[in-house]
Amino acid sequence: MEQAGTLVLGIETSCDETAAALVYRGADGRGEIVSNIVRSQIDEHAEFGGVVPEIAARSHVRWLDRIVARALGEGGRDLSEITAIAATAGPGLIGGLLVGLTSAKALAAAAARPLVAVNHLEAHVLTPRLIGQLDFPYLVLLISGGHTQFVAARGLGDYAVWGTTIDDAIGEAFDKVAKLLGLGLPGGPAVEAEALKGDASRFDFPRPLLGQKRLDFSLSGLKTAVRQAADELAPVGPGDIADLCAGFQAAVVEVVAARSAAALARFASEFPEVHPRLVVAGGVAANRAIAAALEKVTAVAGAGLVVPSPVLCGDNAAIVAWAGAERLAAGVTSGPEFAARARWPLDGAEMAVPG
Ligand code: KG4
Ligand code: ZN
Repeated sequence: MEQAGTLVLGIETSCDETAAALVYRGADGRGEIVSNIVRSQIDEHAEFGGVVPEIAARSHVRWLDRIVARALGEGGRDLSEITAIAATAGPGLIGGLLVGLTSAKALAAAAARPLVAVNHLEAHVLTPRLIGQLDFPYLVLLISGGHTQFVAARGLGDYAVWGTTIDDAIGEAFDKVAKLLGLGLPGGPAVEAEALKGDASRFDFPRPLLGQKRLDFSLSGLKTAVRQAADELAPVGPGDIADLCAGFQAAVVEVVAARSAAALARFASEFPEVHPRLVVAGGVAANRAIAAALEKVTAVAGAGLVVPSPVLCGDNAAIVAWAGAERLAAGVTSGPEFAARARWPLDGAEMAVPG
């Protein structure tokens, strides 16, 4: 029997965002974001050209209590009104995960409320159910700075990873290309802005693994090709940078489009009675060239396309709270001994999570 509505406090500290949110899940399964506070640490890592784990962990320690207080305050709730506390327990940077999970355990103990340890990837995968009550099964393309995966979401806790990257994540490749061309962090938006000004046909960059049947990605060869082209031109001028970015982005777009078409074909053959839907998640979903290509691919395949808002695509705690609410509704909570884990593959995010 379905219980009454639940109000879940979510905590996210797996990378360089310190985030807390309140999400309400109605008895009918509808989600509502009550508050969603995200503090990016990007300025603290900028001078190092990437996320420094030690700095990230210290910053989470410094900010998390205040961010949680703001999430409660903006929602006009206090801890006694919360049904459960959900926190990302992995995968991610272990120092940050420990900060968030330990705080969540302390809050859960203080408020005598259940704890739900959440897999960060599952939080991204379940996002469309928060915003639109999407039924299983559906296909997810998760493209962020840390992850690149096709996931067939068959049910709650039932995920099949159909493809991943054998080297860099797509967002990471954007960030590395930005860095080698002297553009700022985060690299994705900077490369996209340059690409708009450039000529994509000037460089003939490789399309790694294109034409292969597997649904995996490989980005490091493409990144190396961009580096070599830049080295040959050195010193690169503004026009060169724009053309290099345009060529790089065009290669990524082509590979993402081809892989997505193949993944949708597999989905159609495995779930013939289901109207196929492709959900895009992760920070790279903000890229307009990639989004436009996915619109075409889904239209050709007769599939629906779901792109959550940029705030919900990037790392935030509302999606963690929602994953917690879904698990709670299914009767799954975690004991205080639940350990943070730097690695936690999505196909290991089973419902009976080990302690
Ligand atoms: O999901 P996210 O906020 O954080 C995690 O990595 O978990 O994603 C951030 C990544 C960064 O690598 C950033 O460069 C990339 O998403 N990104 C983009 C764009 N906006 C953000 N990549 C390409 N084009 C964009 N417009
Ligand atoms: Zn993420």
